[in-house]
Amino acid sequence: MAEFIRRVLYYYRPYRGAVIAGLVFVVLANVFKSLSPWVLRLAVNSIESGLERAELWHWAGLIVGVAALAGLFTLLMRKKVISVSRHIEYDIRQRLLRHLLALDPSFYDRSRIGDLMTRSTLDIEQVRMVIGPALMYTVNTIFGFLFAMVLMFTISVPLTLIVILIGPIVAGLVFLVGRRVHRASTESQEAFSDLSAFVQENVSGIRVVKAFLQHEHQQREFAGRSGTLLKKKMKLVLFQGTFMPLIMLLFGTAVSAIMLVGGYYIIEGTLRVGDYVAFTGYLMMLTWPMVSIGWVVSLAQRGRASLERINDLLDRGPGLPDPDPPSDPPPRGNGTVRFDSVTFTYPQATAPALNSVSFELKPGATLGIVGRVGSGKSTIASLITRMYDVSNGRLRFDGVDVRAWSLAGLRGRIAVVPQDPLLFSTSIRDNIRLGGEFSEDEVARAVEISRLVQDIDSFPDGLDTEVGERGITLSGGQKQRVAIARAVIRDSELILFDDALSAVDASTEEKILDNLNRHLEDRTAIIITHRTTSVHEADEILVIDDGAIVECGRHGELIKRGGVYADLFRRQKMARELEEAA
Ligand SMILES: Nc1ncnc2c1ncn2[C@@H]1O[C@H](COP(=O)(O)OP(=O)(O)OP(=O)(O)O)[C@@H](O)[C@H]1O
Ligand SMILES: [Mg+2]
Repeated sequence: MAEFIRRVLYYYRPYRGAVIAGLVFVVLANVFKSLSPWVLRLAVNSIESGLERAELWHWAGLIVGVAALAGLFTLLMRKKVISVSRHIEYDIRQRLLRHLLALDPSFYDRSRIGDLMTRSTLDIEQVRMVIGPALMYTVNTIFGFLFAMVLMFTISVPLTLIVILIGPIVAGLVFLVGRRVHRASTESQEAFSDLSAFVQENVSGIRVVKAFLQHEHQQREFAGRSGTLLKKKMKLVLFQGTFMPLIMLLFGTAVSAIMLVGGYYIIEGTLRVGDYVAFTGYLMMLTWPMVSIGWVVSLAQRGRASLERINDLLDRGPGLPDPDPPSDPPPRGNGTVRFDSVTFTYPQATAPALNSVSFELKPGATLGIVGRVGSGKSTIASLITRMYDVSNGRLRFDGVDVRAWSLAGLRGRIAVVPQDPLLFSTSIRDNIRLGGEFSEDEVARAVEISRLVQDIDSFPDGLDTEVGERGITLSGGQKQRVAIARAVIRDSELILFDDALSAVDASTEEKILDNLNRHLEDRTAIIITHRTTSVHEADEILVIDDGAIVECGRHGELIKRGGVYADLFRRQKMARELEEAA
């Protein structure tokens, strides 16, 4: 709990002034709210003692004035406190997103998107409810209660004692029902989470659902989960529904008891009618603070759980910190890469994905990496861009250990065409630029190199064509070529192609490689591929198997050697010839 308060205070800090002003308004609102029955008391008492008609107007005006001031301060308190909570909500959301974007890939290997979405939306909202409304109602309850009790005691001690008698019953009820409401609302929140995760998965996997004729089965499944949610919500309705009537009944009892006892006092002449009216007014004023206690407690509990879930993310430091102090990126180099006995094991894996890999990529050279599926090719690419850190050995970029580079400095000099290129749901042009400032000519050139021109001419809006979520409206080959354009438009020292041509046909591949060769003349490049044709021209080819380099050399040398590469080349050539013959 102390930890929770410390964390919450931290968020209030920038808004100290506004929070204090808001709380002052809460107190003022309560002052005027409790003044209202008091004025009524004086008015009724003076009516009883006989007063001029004109004086009646005077009292009426006063009552309106007090009510107006109470209203004004209630408005101001809401405006201040709730707007602070909205600002803090904004701050937390910014902080969380910045943090999520900074977390390294190994974090995402272990996380579920649905869960992260819930934390950055619903959980933040729950925390806001504590920071704003719960705080406001707590202070409101305390002062409302305090003022009402003091004034009631001033009017009549015995009547107040009667009210205090029913206090514990109300408190007990609030506690019991409140706990049930809390449990039921937690359960329905969970059922809701489960349901939305199910919907998200089915909608994003709609193609699989349809192809495997699963929609009826999924619909039944959905009906089941939806029914569970309904049941939990009904339970909530029942508890919440009984709560208010019970409170009302209790207060009704109190009002009638006060009427009985107060009536005697009036008959006896020890209590005036005005006193009695005001007393009942204060009793009514107590209802809301009593009811809101239960609500505030449940808000606080939920908010605490949510804040823990958010902090759980925020406390996770980026796995790959920038060096301290971050060294200035070396002056423009030439994109050389050097692996010295690099061994790497994925955080969750038991066996290493790379085993003592050493090679050197000279300035301006092109390196081909060939190997079977799962042999460790993409892993090499991930290490160079420092998505992960090597477990053993040393990896240098431009002669400097990658861990000494600032992440931004390092990644700013490397362009990557990833194995599964992800496009964003925006235009092709924006996908190519991806936040960079590039002229029309530069975009045109990139599109030319990646041989995307014909495709773009056939699209309805050319470069402005929107590509749908994850680029779903493009073919696999088109997506790959947009990704290539995205990489070549950047003036990087090193370009990394991870299986970037797997989805284009042989003749397109040849043409793109031709263009690339010209583009890559003074740049360093790594071409990862399954196809030997992609690396014919490479200055050096590494053949990877099971995380280790098994052969290396130029195309001609490797063919002469008659090893794994030659075998792969022969088989792929045969397959091509068969295809052409068919
Ligand atoms: N994020 C990860 N966490 C744990 N293990 C991983 C992860 N990514 C890859 N691996 C494992 O590491 C090994 C090498 O994977 P890698 O992706 O480098 O292969 P690849 O040569 O690029 O294969 P492909 O040709 O199919 O793309 C594989 O056994 C794979 O299962
Ligand atoms: Mg791969």
